[in-house]
Amino acid sequence: MIDDADRLLLARALELAARGARTAAPNPVVGCVIARHGTVVAEGWHVRPGGPHAEAMALAVAQEGARDATVYVTLEPCSHHGRTPPCSDALIAAGVGRVVVLTTDPAPHASGAGFLQLADAGIPVDIIDDADPLALAARRQNAGFRSAMTLGRPHVTYKAAQTLDGRTATRTGDSRWISGPAARARVHELRASVDAVLVGSGTALADDPELTARDCLPPAERQPLRIVWDRACRLEPSSRLVATVGLGPVLVLCAAAAPVKRRAALAATGVEVAEVSSLADGLAMLHGRGIQTVLCEGGAGLAGALLAADLLDRLLVVIAPRLLGDASAPGLLGAAGAPRAAMADALRLAAWSCETIGDDLWIDAWLREPG
Ligand SMILES: NC(=O)c1ccc[n+]([C@@H]2O[C@H](COP(=O)([O-])OP(=O)(O)OC[C@H]3O[C@@H](n4cnc5c(N)ncnc54)[C@H](OP(=O)(O)O)[C@@H]3O)[C@@H](O)[C@H]2O)c1
Repeated sequence: MIDDADRLLLARALELAARGARTAAPNPVVGCVIARHGTVVAEGWHVRPGGPHAEAMALAVAQEGARDATVYVTLEPCSHHGRTPPCSDALIAAGVGRVVVLTTDPAPHASGAGFLQLADAGIPVDIIDDADPLALAARRQNAGFRSAMTLGRPHVTYKAAQTLDGRTATRTGDSRWISGPAARARVHELRASVDAVLVGSGTALADDPELTARDCLPPAERQPLRIVWDRACRLEPSSRLVATVGLGPVLVLCAAAAPVKRRAALAATGVEVAEVSSLADGLAMLHGRGIQTVLCEGGAGLAGALLAADLLDRLLVVIAPRLLGDASAPGLLGAAGAPRAAMADALRLAAWSCETIGDDLWIDAWLREPG
C-alpha cells in the first residue's frame, strides 16, 4: 500500500533521477531515496554509465542507516551483473525493510527479476500502479531507454515553432525567429540531453543551422550527433554543419541513388555519410549505434513523413503570438502527414500539457506514452 508520505518521497526520487538527464545515457536515469519513518536518510541518482547506480549511491551514504529503512526508487533495482554489481544484492545485504518502485525494468532480460529477488529475500516490494501520474513521469524520464528496449528504435520528438495561425515559415522560407529567446534557450537545453538532433535537407539548406547545444548552464558536456536526412546529399560542404564538425559528429543519411561525387565531397570534410533505405531503416540503424533519443528540428516535410510512418512519439510545439495570414506558408506537418477526412478520425494525443515561456506558449504533446 503506497500512501501520501510515500508519494512525496517517490516524487523526490524523480527529481533526483532528472539530475542524470544529460549524462546517464545509454543507461536510464534513476533516482533513489532511503528514508526511515518518513525522514530522509540518504539520496542517490545514476550519474553516468560505469558509475554507481542510484541505489548504490544512496546505500553508500546511508551505511547502517539503511537497515530496516524504506527505499524509494524510480526504476526496478537491477539483479544482474553489469559494469557494477546487482542493486538487489546490495539492498538485501544492507537489510532494508521495504522497497517502493515506480516502474519495472523494460529490458526483457531484467524485467521483474529484481522484484523476485527482493521478494525471495523476504523484503516487501510495493510497485505503484502503471497509470499513476508518478509512474507516467518516471516512464517519460526514460522514454529513450524504454523505446530502445520495447520498440527497437530511438524515441523521436519533433520540436517546432509556429505562428498563432499555424505557420512554421513564411512562403519564402524565412523562419528566424518565430519563437522568443526563452523558448530558444530551452531548445538548447533539450539538445544537451538528447543523443541526436535531426533535420531534413530542406532545413539544412534553408536555414544553414549549426544544431549544437549552446549557452547551456552548466555547459553541455557532449554535443548530440547532428543528423541530416538528405537523400541526394544536397548538404553544402560550405555549410555551418560541416564547418563545425570538429565540435561534434555530423551524419548525413542518404539514399542509394545519391550522386557519388556529392557523397565523396561530404565524406572528405569529416562528415559521415551513410546509406539508408527508409525512415524506419534509418532509425533502426541509429538504434544499432546506441542512439536512444532523437530531437527532430526539421521542417514540415520530414516531420510529416515521420508521422505518416508512425515514427513520431512526442511533439514540442512553440506557439508564438504572431500571425502570417498566408495560406501558402508551410504548416506544422507537410503533405506526407497522415491526412484524415473526418474530424472523428483525427489522431488523438495520449497526453499533453502547456505552459508559457516568455511570450510563447510551449505545448508538450505525447502521441504515445513510453511502454
Ligand atoms: N518553425 C520551425 O520550427 C522550423 C523548423 C525547421 C525548419 N523550418 C522551416 O521549414 C522550411 C524547410 O521545410 P522542409 O519541409 O523543406 O524541411 P525538412 O523537413 O527539414 O526537409 C525536408 C526534406 O527532407 C528530406 N527527406 C529525407 N527523407 C525524407 C522522407 N522520408 N520524407 C520526406 N522528406 C525526406 C527531403 O529532401 P531530399 O529529397 O533531398 O532528401 C525533403 O525535401 C524552411 O523554411 C525552414 O526555415 C521551420
